[in-house]
Amino acid sequence: MGNLRIWILKLLVLALLPISQSTPSHMNIQKKAKPAVDGTTIQFKSVTSQKNLCANSGGGDFIVTSCDETCEFDHFRLWRVNENTFRFRVPKNQFVGLEGTVVVAVVTNDTESATFEIIRESQDSKLVRLKASNGYYLQAREDNSVTADVKTVSGWGSSDPTVFSITFVEVNMHVYIEGDFQLQNGLGSKAAQIMQEHYDTFVVENDFELMRNYGINAVRIPLGWWTAYDPNPPFPFVSGTLKALDNAFTWAKKHGIKIILDLHAAPGSQNGVAHSASRDGSIEWGKTYDNIQQTLEVIEFFAERYGKHESLYGIELLNEPLYPYVTLKSIEDYSRAAHKIIRKYNPTAYVIFSIRLSFVDLDVPSYMELFPLANSLDYTVVDLHWYNLLDYIKPQEHIDYIKVNRTRQMTELLSNNGEALVYIGEWSCFWSAQNPTTEELKEFAKAQIEVYDRANFGWSFWTWKNNDKNWSFKWLIENGIIDVNQIKR
Ligand SMILES: *[C@@H]1O[C@H](CO)[C@@H](O)[C@H](O)[C@H]1NC(C)=O
Ligand SMILES: *[C@@H]1O[C@H](CO)[C@@H](O)[C@H](O)[C@H]1NC(C)=O
Ligand SMILES: *[C@@H]1O[C@H](CO)[C@@H](O)[C@H](O)[C@H]1NC(C)=O
Repeated sequence: MGNLRIWILKLLVLALLPISQSTPSHMNIQKKAKPAVDGTTIQFKSVTSQKNLCANSGGGDFIVTSCDETCEFDHFRLWRVNENTFRFRVPKNQFVGLEGTVVVAVVTNDTESATFEIIRESQDSKLVRLKASNGYYLQAREDNSVTADVKTVSGWGSSDPTVFSITFVEVNMHVYIEGDFQLQNGLGSKAAQIMQEHYDTFVVENDFELMRNYGINAVRIPLGWWTAYDPNPPFPFVSGTLKALDNAFTWAKKHGIKIILDLHAAPGSQNGVAHSASRDGSIEWGKTYDNIQQTLEVIEFFAERYGKHESLYGIELLNEPLYPYVTLKSIEDYSRAAHKIIRKYNPTAYVIFSIRLSFVDLDVPSYMELFPLANSLDYTVVDLHWYNLLDYIKPQEHIDYIKVNRTRQMTELLSNNGEALVYIGEWSCFWSAQNPTTEELKEFAKAQIEVYDRANFGWSFWTWKNNDKNWSFKWLIENGIIDVNQIKR
């Protein structure tokens, strides 16, 4: 135990699987076809009443057309069927459907919900009509009800109750969710080939050689839960990720690099954002026994397949669960069971816990909250993601924040962590500083590495390769922003 514990790793994120930050260029295909992506939130305003369609009570009732500016239930999340056809999901998670010709939101089973074709006046216009699966157009009636009973339409006049104006709504700071679900479902029949090309070319053996040369001794690989079902992953995912992961283990062994497996996208999504492969922003992880059971099966799949591999260093159970949607209780129940499963295959592989995030600044759970759990089990690590999400203008303010505030937090962590190790599992050189000089960017990187080096499980950078340079470790090294000598030691 001792030897491994004093072995201070420097870790690095390898974006082997294309989850959000490592967006393949093919993502542009989707951008052109917007809003044809899963999870986009849309409001429909009737041109006649100038009110929005909304789900009465948020769902479980009629769709009505009486929503004004203050209405909270006028958000419809798209589930893409094909380029123009969608299911609509309302705030309380029911799907929009028909009872006779009346439009309602009562079913929770997507396969039993109705589909709607969105017919746009033209690509650049906000005017649309909605055609229901019964072949009729929706109309906003004067009595506030919505019905699908108009057979023929003409023109786009402002007195036509079948015409709506659409608005795309920003949710969690994004208008479009751009994750694996959107990408693969959006690519449709082309997904298998395009994704395979990406898996074959994005990370290759040469990357492992380069990492070794740069002094990197481990990679943290983000995984989607569907990899456990390869070669027949469920809709909309395509096969190929398991082979890519096998390759990573082969190359890691050859080049002396350790691997940390990181369940980045768990069944049902643990945070609702793109990188957890959420379909429409909803967070279903941990809500049912079946869901936790399925996640444990996924962990068992990876533990069994790679548990005896000499390059396996640790398994991270659940990346960035979101507070308060994911409860501490569900994390604890799941983590104890997962730890037990991993120990069946490997007595000393580290089991890593990622702290809960919150999107609400003033209501963030303590970053110490997982230490009691971690300390009740053996070979455990607590992972914190330290990004610079400050809106400081001056570069020096960011650098000072690292040197003062992060240093203080690190000291606190290292004096209260107990047996569990501390890991800065994600950081980057992204910041909001205005007009920084190259020297300042270098100092920013250097200051971060100095502080994160103190973490007794090490750190990893998000990510190895990225189109956005400040999130690309490779680019930052190759362009002299990050000094290799600081990593090598
Ligand atoms: C949803 O409906 C379909 C078709 O009726 C059925 O086969 C399926 O079992 C239902 N799923 C759930 C979760 O109820
Ligand atoms: C950083 O620490 C300083 C000094 O203790 C404090 O005044 C400041 O509010 C902290 N900054 C942030 C963003 O927490
Ligand atoms: C990266 O950071 C530098 C320095 O802050 C900035 O000048 C540059 O615009 C950023 N690049 C990208 C692609 O964000």
